[in-house]
Amino acid sequence: MSRTIECELCKFNNPRCTATAIIIRNGKLLLLRRSQEPHKGKWDLPGGYMESLEKPEEAMRRELKEELGVRPRLLFVNTFPGEASWQKRKFAVLSHAFLADIGKKDIKLNNENGSYKFTTISRLDPRLVAFDSNRNIVRFIKAQFGKFDIEELRGLVRQLDPSAYVGEYALYHAILNGHIVSIRRRKKLVGMGWIFVRQTLLRKQAVIEDMVVDTKHRGRGIGRAILNELIHWAKKQGVEVIELTSGQHREVANHLYRSAGFVYHPTNHYLLKL
Ligand SMILES: CC(C)(COP(=O)(O)OP(=O)(O)OC[C@H]1O[C@@H](n2cnc3c(N)ncnc32)[C@H](O)[C@@H]1OP(=O)(O)O)[C@@H](O)C(=O)NCCC(=O)NCCS
Repeated sequence: MSRTIECELCKFNNPRCTATAIIIRNGKLLLLRRSQEPHKGKWDLPGGYMESLEKPEEAMRRELKEELGVRPRLLFVNTFPGEASWQKRKFAVLSHAFLADIGKKDIKLNNENGSYKFTTISRLDPRLVAFDSNRNIVRFIKAQFGKFDIEELRGLVRQLDPSAYVGEYALYHAILNGHIVSIRRRKKLVGMGWIFVRQTLLRKQAVIEDMVVDTKHRGRGIGRAILNELIHWAKKQGVEVIELTSGQHREVANHLYRSAGFVYHPTNHYLLKL
C-alpha cells in the first residue's frame, strides 16, 4: 500500500468493529469481570476488537478460544452500535453479536478477566455492564428472552407432545426467527403459540407451530386469544397466507382453527427425518 493511500485511510474515522458473545445456560447469561482497563472491575460480555482482515465470525471464535478456552457453535444475531473510549478519546464501535452455544464445556479464563458468573436474564441490570454497545446487547437479550423460563416452557410443550424436549438454543433461535405469543395467569405461563414467516417463490407465508394451553386453563378462551394475536402479528408483517397442521385427533384445535377461518387444504404432508 502506498504512503498516500495509507494517509487517506488514516483520515477515515470509521467505527471500530468488535465481536461479542451471548452465552446462556439454563436461562442465565454469562458475564465476565474485567481485570484490565478500560472499565477494570466491571462486568462485561465475552468478546473484543476484530483484528485486521478478520471476519466477525473468525474474531468471535478467536476471542472465545482466548478468553474462555471454548469452541462454540455460533449464530449471528445483529450488529449493535455504540461508543467507547481509549485514553480519554471517544470513538464509535460496532459490535457484532453472536449467540454462542458452548454446551457444558468448562470455562477457562485467561488474564483478561478475573472471574465469571451466570445471571438470570430477567434480573440483568444493563447499567452494570461495560461499554454502551454491550449494554444495548444486554437490553436486547432481556427484552427478547427475559420473559421465558426454559423449564416452565418445557413443561408446557410436554403437554403438546410428552416426548418433546425444547433445547435451550432451539428456543432462542425460534424467538429470533419468529414471534412467540405467551399468556400468563398469576405469573405462570399457561399458553403459547409460535409463528415464523417464510418468503416462498409465490407468496409471503407464515407457519404456526407449538400452540398449547395448560390443561388446567383450557376452554376459557386462551387458545383463541393466542391464535388471534398470532394472526394479527402476521397481518402486520404483510403475510398473505398462514399455514398450520393439526392431528385429526386434536378435535378442539381443529374446531378452533376452522372457526377462526382456516380452511382444510387437501395435501399430502411428508416428513423426512435427517
Ligand atoms: C387446542 C388448544 C390450544 C385450544 O386452547 P383453549 O384455550 O382450550 O381453547 P379456547 O378456550 O380458546 O376454545 C377454543 C374453541 O374450542 C372450544 N373448546 C374448548 N375446549 C373444548 C372442549 N373440551 N370440547 C369441545 N370444544 C372445546 C371452545 O368452545 C372454543 O370454540 P367456540 O368459540 O366455538 O365456542 C388447547 O386445547 C390445547 O392446548 N390442546 C392440546 C394441544 C393441542 O392440541 N395443540 C394444538 C396443536 S395443532
